[in-house]
Amino acid sequence: MASFSLPANSRIGEGRTHKVAPGTKRIKTFRIYRWNPDDGANPRFDSYEVDLDSCGPMVLDALIKIKNEVDPTLTFRRSCREGICGSCAMNIDGTNTLACLKPIADLEGPARITPLPHMPVVKDLVPNLNQAYAQYRSIEPWLKTETLPPPDGEQRQSIAERAALDGMWECILCFCCTTACPSYWWNGDRYLGPAVLLAAYRWLADSRDEATGERLDSLEDPFRLYRCHTIMNCTETCPKGLNPARAIGRIKQMIAERAG
Ligand code: SF4
Ligand code: SF4
Ligand code: FES
Repeated sequence: MASFSLPANSRIGEGRTHKVAPGTKRIKTFRIYRWNPDDGANPRFDSYEVDLDSCGPMVLDALIKIKNEVDPTLTFRRSCREGICGSCAMNIDGTNTLACLKPIADLEGPARITPLPHMPVVKDLVPNLNQAYAQYRSIEPWLKTETLPPPDGEQRQSIAERAALDGMWECILCFCCTTACPSYWWNGDRYLGPAVLLAAYRWLADSRDEATGERLDSLEDPFRLYRCHTIMNCTETCPKGLNPARAIGRIKQMIAERAG
């Protein structure tokens, strides 16, 4: 008979609570997902109180403060701390976003922080993005041309042709959108997901690229492209304000137009 209860080792327990010194005036509590593949224990939520008077304004500032001053075992990715590298993507109070761009002041009550959903976890807040990067590689995200560049060495675009890439080149591959997409949750092994499809459209929309036909051939697939059911979670969650759902719609339109 089918069992509908979760296995015991999938339950998230309550971990430790780290308190600030008595008398601290402005306190914010962060409940953070912890899991270490090496200790054999279930995942847990540890709670950390943070003194906001000695902390920067963003969630990433709080995580760095916790790691530096309270618990050096807390593991997360970050690099640029200004929304450029995409590495601090995580789920904060139910929304995928960048910790370095998320003001603590926007969060009510204790903040709940977990890794990007539906990806394997390497440790704590670090997701394993190998599959997503392999899918990115599969769309061959580089300029493909047969025509040799002109003698002056540059393949020029008009202002309008260059403007056609706006809304796509800004993508930082944080995968907030892909990991918010229900179609990707269920079919991520075969569906490319919104981040990779946005990148695919970036090259289809490039006036200099001469591989449009082969790019569309590789996308015209019931799973790689057509698992998108226009649920729009991707566009709603993008911390850079991009619109992957619109880019996916444009790829479908290009395929329909060449067929007709
Ligand atoms: S619009 Fe498509 S890609 Fe975006 S969340 Fe929905 S199914 Fe996923
Ligand atoms: S489209 Fe937005 S959410 Fe998706 S990977 Fe790019 S920057 Fe991140
Ligand atoms: S640390 Fe680079 S985007 Fe947040």
